[in-house]
Amino acid sequence: MKRNQPIEPHRIKSIEPIKLLNRHEREAKIKDAHFNIFKLDAEDIYIDLLTDSGTTAMSAKQWGALMMGDESYAGARSFRHFEKVVQEIFVKEFVIPCHQGRSAENLMFSTVVKPGQYVLNNTHFDTTRGNTLHCGGVPIDLPSSAVELLDAEAFKGNMDVDKLEQFISEHGPESIAMVIMTVTNNSVGGQPVSMANIKEVSEVCHRHGLLFFFDAARFAENCYFIKRDEAGYAGKSIEEIAKEMFSYADGAMMSAKKDGMANIGGLIALNDKQLFDKVTELMIVIEGFCTYGGLAGRDLEVLSVGLKEVLDFDYLHYRIGQVAYLGAEIQKAGIPIVMPTGGHAVFIDAGRLLPHIPSEQFPGQTLAVEFYREGGVRVVEIGSLMFGGVDPNTGQEFKAPHELVRLAMPRRVYTNSHYDYIAEVVARIVARKEKLTGYSITREPRLLRHFTCDLEPVKKVSMTV
Ligand code: F0G
Repeated sequence: MKRNQPIEPHRIKSIEPIKLLNRHEREAKIKDAHFNIFKLDAEDIYIDLLTDSGTTAMSAKQWGALMMGDESYAGARSFRHFEKVVQEIFVKEFVIPCHQGRSAENLMFSTVVKPGQYVLNNTHFDTTRGNTLHCGGVPIDLPSSAVELLDAEAFKGNMDVDKLEQFISEHGPESIAMVIMTVTNNSVGGQPVSMANIKEVSEVCHRHGLLFFFDAARFAENCYFIKRDEAGYAGKSIEEIAKEMFSYADGAMMSAKKDGMANIGGLIALNDKQLFDKVTELMIVIEGFCTYGGLAGRDLEVLSVGLKEVLDFDYLHYRIGQVAYLGAEIQKAGIPIVMPTGGHAVFIDAGRLLPHIPSEQFPGQTLAVEFYREGGVRVVEIGSLMFGGVDPNTGQEFKAPHELVRLAMPRRVYTNSHYDYIAEVVARIVARKEKLTGYSITREPRLLRHFTCDLEPVKKVSMTV
């Protein structure tokens, strides 16, 4: 074993076979998928690093809890278990189960965002941005400006507090529907946010009477970084840190498919009874009764266990260690990655790796396609394909801040030897990187184009004289 390999704090009880198609088959599959990795069949993938969302391997305790689900339509025992766990960790009185993160976003934004109002975020994830736009809102990102992608500084996920103040004074608090802190900051390399930053943002919001919420998909991973890297927190438990963090906000939306350690689920937790009543009203119309929110009772039981398991320091230490391990192996192949490695993924700077491919030709997508062609590995572009394009409401053109490729690591699923294989695939791609060419879009939908668009390789211009 290599010295920096983190050891899993669990053993494997149940396995699922995976298969590597040959190169010829892989070439045919990616072409049939119109070079969009979302259109590949999962069965045709050897190692799937598309997302850490909903891909967790559940524990024996979770599988046991699943059998205890109470499937009553209203007032199920499973909801009461879930409610209690969420109330404790999120320190909020009212708990709304949702079937996943984006339904929590839709419920919240439909309730609080008036058309034309701003929603401020350290950085919106794609569905948060999509839901803001869908409700007529204007998403504004306020990431920490001092951040250089490749510099290994702590807490690069922070919000820029000066820019927040400036935005409020320029536009007025009444133009802002809410402020959201995404922990960890997925779109900026899965980087954590410090407690100091959370406190400052909370203070600014409350001074101006602004609603302050968390997008808490990866809250426990964020708490691990606070414990490890922020002065004054080394002696605190992850649970204590989580409680302090959530105490600064009015509420949280969460996709529980990440740090809920479950394959489906989400939630809203908040203290304002009026807001709770409004959200609940809408919820019964579109999601389900307020004690199940589109989930089965068994899902709620699984989440009640998962939300506790994720607070285990040994688990988080291994998890963050495994991300750092993959990052270090990829760096050895001479590839620029976002530093330091964050909580759930390694992010390759494809713009820097493939400088000969302009952003209009999607260097990140080029690399993502190459991962599949070379090794049957699925990864995702987080760059111009995901964040570029035109706002369907205003016609305004968006520009992606970076051309990244994300290697998201499912929780408790792949072992270190899978990650060694990935590092070998990367090295083989890099050896012929100058020969790679970009892609263009041949068909695209109105919102969230990267999920369903079709692409084709850009034809090489022949340099005949
Ligand atoms: N917020 C963040 C920060 C997310 O990363 C996601 C999902 C969501 C909200 C939406 O949650 O999928 O349950 O509806 N991120 C996944 C990912 C899809 O791959 O990063 P959802």
